[in-house]
Amino acid sequence: MNYPFWDVPIIGSGWVLGGIAIFHVMVSHFAVGGGLYLPLAERKARLEGRDDWLEVLKKHSKFFLVLTGVFGAVTGVAIWFSIGLANPEATSTLIHNFVFGWAIEYVFFLVELTTAAIYYYTWDKISPGLHLKIGYLYAATSWLTLVIINGILTFMLTPGATWLGVAGSGSEASVFWYAFFNPTYFPSLILRTLVAVSLAAVWALVTTSRIDGFTQGKLKTSIVRWSVKWLIPSFLLMPVAFAWYLYMVPESGRQLMNLGISTIGAGTFTHVTRAILVSVMASATIAALAYFVAYRNPRTFKTGWALSVLFLAFAATAATEQAREMLRKPFVIGQFMYSNGIRKSEVEKFNREGYLTHTMWLSPETPDSPYRKVGGLPEADRTLLKGELMFRGQCASCHTRDGYRALGSLLRDRDEKSIRNIVQTLHEYKEDSPYRAFMPPLVGKEDEIEALVQYLRTLNAAPPKPEAPATQTARVDR
Ligand code: HEC
Repeated sequence: MNYPFWDVPIIGSGWVLGGIAIFHVMVSHFAVGGGLYLPLAERKARLEGRDDWLEVLKKHSKFFLVLTGVFGAVTGVAIWFSIGLANPEATSTLIHNFVFGWAIEYVFFLVELTTAAIYYYTWDKISPGLHLKIGYLYAATSWLTLVIINGILTFMLTPGATWLGVAGSGSEASVFWYAFFNPTYFPSLILRTLVAVSLAAVWALVTTSRIDGFTQGKLKTSIVRWSVKWLIPSFLLMPVAFAWYLYMVPESGRQLMNLGISTIGAGTFTHVTRAILVSVMASATIAALAYFVAYRNPRTFKTGWALSVLFLAFAATAATEQAREMLRKPFVIGQFMYSNGIRKSEVEKFNREGYLTHTMWLSPETPDSPYRKVGGLPEADRTLLKGELMFRGQCASCHTRDGYRALGSLLRDRDEKSIRNIVQTLHEYKEDSPYRAFMPPLVGKEDEIEALVQYLRTLNAAPPKPEAPATQTARVDR
């Protein structure tokens, strides 16, 4: 059954989800790294008898509680809403496989939120030893939320041979741990932990930059310098962890990246390569700013600088998450379900029985669907409606009509014959088709596919330019 689909103009449903996810990643990883930073900093301050540090940490823990407890939690729930809308089929698969995982996640999450609040509200009210213990409990549970969610996130990229072997048989639950500890699990856990630790530094710079460097120069110098050191593990270990991660990613994803790197000279970056470059350059700039501006001149380190570092971290996060998304294309769950919710195993069936036959919008079980009036329409309008449903069901998860990755402009210069060609190429999905690297096969019966051609015609309404080349070669994902 195809669920109804969510049609988001201009940016597409993917970017609604992406936008929320980027904020959530920034805050949730900070919740992990910052959760370790607080008790370790408190411990240092207490051992060295530095009460001025404690004052700073108290303020930082308030900021931390508000940011993670409110913003982190709200964006987390927003992800649920948006994935359910953007890809109900994949969400359903995840829930069926990992409901137990999420149950564990919520337990850790509850403890995490509770201890964060207790930590903040009990400064100076309980013994320092107990306060520290609460801090450590927070750090442990918040890292454990990462341990759990990482299994589910990496599963989507690399479900692993064992799970794929039983997928769709109904006994997926028996291989829960194989799916959970899948091929990219450990490299990704290390990568995310490193990101968390460096975000602790990034956000700590934001609060510590506000200390007055003239009246409290010594305090600011010591705490800014100590915070910058939190970036070191990432810069040493990130390249290694990243190489390991890529090594575990399926061949096709790596190819997409290699292709981009080897053709940089020619100017044809792939999405993945471009995103990785942004991420590497942003990280290098963070390192430079952190060392030259913050570490060398802590007294004059202003909030503006701290916010620039934060902004760069944001860019690096966005780029990395996008690269991960691109590596996964054309799948939403590697080798099992395409980004548009069609299972690899269903392709044959849809080609035989038709795609729209299984679409809820047209099902008798949805009597008030606006699309059911399709029967009473004149032939041409009916074709266009069918074509639109094909577009919404099979293309709209990655393309919009006239915004992000717009089919209107990708098809500009193409006449009907040329559009039919490209659509047929997607439908036949031959081994050597260049589109296989990032697009799923187009499924359906001949009349449905022709309907899509007619609908796509309406999107590139502008007549082909006379000087347009007669034959268009397939472009590599740019
Ligand atoms: C998994 C995501 C995904 C899905 C689903 C998808 N595409 Fe694409 N498509 C892409 C990407 C990525 C590109 C490369 C975009 C670029 O070059 O800017 C692309 C490019 C294209 C192009 C331009 C190709 C060229 O050679 O110029 C066309 C046409 C196209 N898609 C049509 C479709 C149609 C029609 C559908 C639905 C049947 C569809 N796509 C479904 C990801 C997808």
